[in-house]
Amino acid sequence: MEFTTMFCLFASILSLFIFHSLLKFLTSGQQKPPLPPGSLGWPYIGETFQLYSQNPNVFFASKVKKFGSIFKTRILGCPCVMISSPEAVKHVLVSRAHLFKPTFPASKERMLGKQAIFFHQGEYHTKLRKLVLRAFMPEAIKTIVSDIESIAITSLKSWDGQLINTFLEMKTYTFNVALLSIFGKDEVLYREELKRCYYILEKGYNSMPINLPGTLFHRSMKARKELAQILAKILSIRRQMKHDHNGLFGSLMGDKAGLTDEQIADNIIGVIFAARDTTASVITWIIKYLAENPSVLQAVTEEQEAIMKEKCGEEKVLTWADTKKMLLTSRVIQETLRVASILSFTFREAVEDVEFEGYLIPKGWKVLPLFRNIHHSPDNFSEPEKFDPSRFEVAPKPNTFLPFGNGTHSCPGNEMAKMEILVLLHHLTTKYRWSVMGPQNGIQYDPFALPQNGLPIRLSLKS
Ligand code: HEM
Ligand SMILES: *[C@@H]1O[C@H](CO)[C@@H](O)[C@H](O)[C@H]1NC(C)=O
Ligand SMILES: *[C@@H]1O[C@H](CO)[C@@H](O)[C@H](O)[C@H]1NC(C)=O
Repeated sequence: MEFTTMFCLFASILSLFIFHSLLKFLTSGQQKPPLPPGSLGWPYIGETFQLYSQNPNVFFASKVKKFGSIFKTRILGCPCVMISSPEAVKHVLVSRAHLFKPTFPASKERMLGKQAIFFHQGEYHTKLRKLVLRAFMPEAIKTIVSDIESIAITSLKSWDGQLINTFLEMKTYTFNVALLSIFGKDEVLYREELKRCYYILEKGYNSMPINLPGTLFHRSMKARKELAQILAKILSIRRQMKHDHNGLFGSLMGDKAGLTDEQIADNIIGVIFAARDTTASVITWIIKYLAENPSVLQAVTEEQEAIMKEKCGEEKVLTWADTKKMLLTSRVIQETLRVASILSFTFREAVEDVEFEGYLIPKGWKVLPLFRNIHHSPDNFSEPEKFDPSRFEVAPKPNTFLPFGNGTHSCPGNEMAKMEILVLLHHLTTKYRWSVMGPQNGIQYDPFALPQNGLPIRLSLKS
């Protein structure tokens, strides 16, 4: 009797267990889709070597050809999934953005500041984004067009008759414009001090992250501390003045923002980083493409001369409305952003196991939207290697043209970037001529795509 009960109990527990495991086995087979195609390469080293051994675009393009628009690989020790269809990119950056958080190497985070906007999701990110957008929306930047124009005119004068490294000089221009948009007209007071520290900081950006005395990284971290001190000093001066300030600094230090000094500093340094080399690299590519396409240069020059002539009677400063009339020049900027695709891709990380187009993306894997491949796909842009601004006379289809990304982390500075480029091109094309010095077929990545040697040119006033 007792034995029978025991046996029955045991049997039922056993069958329950078997049934449960069977169920688990069956459903897990259903629930877990396969990983995307592709190879993970050798453990750890993975395919990093292949990625860096040739032009990265050749690497990506050959993978897309072999495996399609979604494939797995391993770079820098991390398994990752690369995606290159507009649909998939929309999912990762827009509709399911909450499942894919931004991710950066820890050393880069330390250098730019852990509290900077790029590294966050959720409430803190939403709050920061509102503050940053407020400082760079058209209504806010309209008021600084003529100040940016002064910076452009001064810069161009200083290059007249010189052989210049275009990228280096454009970095000075975009740095000065960034400071103006952050601090307002007071920026000149801090310009040299901030520039000195920032230029040391950036030297360490691509260095080995070893924080020992004597290393580039160490010097860079010291410069970062000094930058934070200068910003704290400016903060205390401005708090005593008690009136409202505009520019990004004013937006971040407002009482309603409720940010700590450290949060403010991390975001100022972060925005300078996001704004400067990107915009300088785009201007460098434009100057190269204009030199290579005389008929496009001619058309841009005519458009800009017409705007200049129109202003004869009135006060001769550029306005926001003028920049909106520069339609052809704007298409040259768009086509440059497409062909050069200075940010070839961006990084996200799956915050949980995600099922994606029939594949599994495991939690913790990186996901890389490949902007360059999308911009160079003949399905979206015919003859993709050809520089042809007129293709933008028709608006591109959604998620096929993403130089500024899309969704919750898309670029809040895009209007500002386009405006400062237009202002510089207005004076460059109406007053100067230039020629590219030396062979110019190479591309370097540092980390943005850039013409070889920063594009040395000789610039002079038109007679
Ligand atoms: C032509 C020049 C520029 C290009 C091509 C560019 C491109 C981009 C892209 C693609 C992203 C999104 C990255 C991602 O989703 O992972 C981004 C983010 C960002 N950009 Fe730009 N950018 C440019 C200029 C600027 C300027 C002038 C500013 C500041 C005034 C700026 C500030 C930012 C910030 C703060 C973010 C992070 C936004 C967030 O995480 O919510 N950028 N940029
Ligand atoms: C753009 O190109 C991609 C990749 O070739 C393709 O999957 C997609 O359907 C194209 N999109 C449009 C809107 O033509
Ligand atoms: C961003 O995604 C939305 C939703 O898919 C789309 O409507 C929009 O056109 C996209 N933006 C760009 C620049 O493609």
